[in-house]
Amino acid sequence: MKRIGLITSGGDSPGMNAAVRAVVRAALGRGVRVTGFLHGWQGVIEDEHWDMGSKDVGGIIDEGGTILRTARSKAFRTPEGRALAVENLRRHEVEGLVVIGGDGSLTGAKALHEEFSFPVVGIPGSIDNDISGSDFSIGFDTAVNTALDAIDKVRDTAYSHERVFVIEVMGRANGFIALEVALSSGAEAVLIPEMPYSLLEICESLKQMHTRGKRSSIIVVAEGAARASDVKDFIQVNTGFEARYLVLGHMQRGGSPTAFDRVLALRLGAHAANRLISGFSGEMVGVDGGKLVTHPLSYVLSTERTVDPDKLLLVDVMAL
Ligand code: F6P
Repeated sequence: MKRIGLITSGGDSPGMNAAVRAVVRAALGRGVRVTGFLHGWQGVIEDEHWDMGSKDVGGIIDEGGTILRTARSKAFRTPEGRALAVENLRRHEVEGLVVIGGDGSLTGAKALHEEFSFPVVGIPGSIDNDISGSDFSIGFDTAVNTALDAIDKVRDTAYSHERVFVIEVMGRANGFIALEVALSSGAEAVLIPEMPYSLLEICESLKQMHTRGKRSSIIVVAEGAARASDVKDFIQVNTGFEARYLVLGHMQRGGSPTAFDRVLALRLGAHAANRLISGFSGEMVGVDGGKLVTHPLSYVLSTERTVDPDKLLLVDVMAL
C-alpha cells in the first residue's frame, strides 16, 4: 500500500487525537502516506481531504476532541452515499481506511468492506465502552474520571446540606460509565438500563441509611435508565429528604485524555495502521486482558457487551 485514509466518526472521545497521531506516524514509518478526511464519513462523501504529515499530528497527544473533526452522517447510511465515498477514496488512490469511532462508525466500515471489498480496519473510540471485542474503547477512562471529579465535588455540598444528589451520566443505552462511576465515587445506588430497579426500594434503603445516621447520598443514573430529574422528584416525594439533581452531559466527552487512554490510543492506532498496511481488512483492533487483539467487524457488531453483575452487587454491598 502507498496511501491509507483516516477518519474519526460519531461522538468524539478523549484520546482520539492520540490515536490519529499513532495511525499517521506508524503509517509514515512504513513509507505509507495518510489522507485524513474531515467530519467522519460526511467528509469522505464531500471530499474534505488532508494529506497528513508527521508535524500535523505533533502536540495533540494531550488534546481532547479530534483534529479531524467528526459528524454523524445521514448520507453515508444510503447506498448512493457509500458509493460516492468509495469513489472519492479511490480517486485519491487511498487503498485502505482506518476508522476511529463507535458502533455506527464501525457499521459503516463493515459496509465498505462487504459491499465494495474496500479494505478497512476499525478502532473502538467511544466514551460509552459498549463495543464488543475490546475491554476498553478510547475515551471511556477519561470520561469516567471526568464524571468522578464532578461527583467528588458534589459530595462535598451534598454532605454539608444533608441532601440526596441524583447525578445523570452518559452511556446511551448502556450503563458502563454509570457503574464504573458509581463504584469509584462510593455512590449509594446506581440505575443502569441493563438491570431492573425499584425506585421504591431505593427510597426504603435511603430511609434505613438515614436512621443509621447517613444524612447525604449520591445516586448515579445512566441516561438510558431514567431521567435524573424524575428520580430526584420521586425520591423527594417518597422519602421527604431534600434532593437535587445534576446532568453531567457533554462535559464527559471533553478534556485531556488520561494516561490510560493515551497509551490505549497509541497502541490501537499503531496496530490498526500495521494491520491495514499488512493486508488485513474487515476487522477491529482491541485489547483483551492487556494484550492487543483483532476481531472481525461482523463479530464485533453482532455481539452484545454485557455489564459485570458482580460490580453492580458491589455497589449495594458498599452502601451501608
Ligand atoms: O456515544 C457517545 C455519546 O456521548 C452517548 O453517551 C450519548 O448518548 C450521545 O453520544 C450523545 O450524542 P450527541 O453528541 O449527538 O448529543
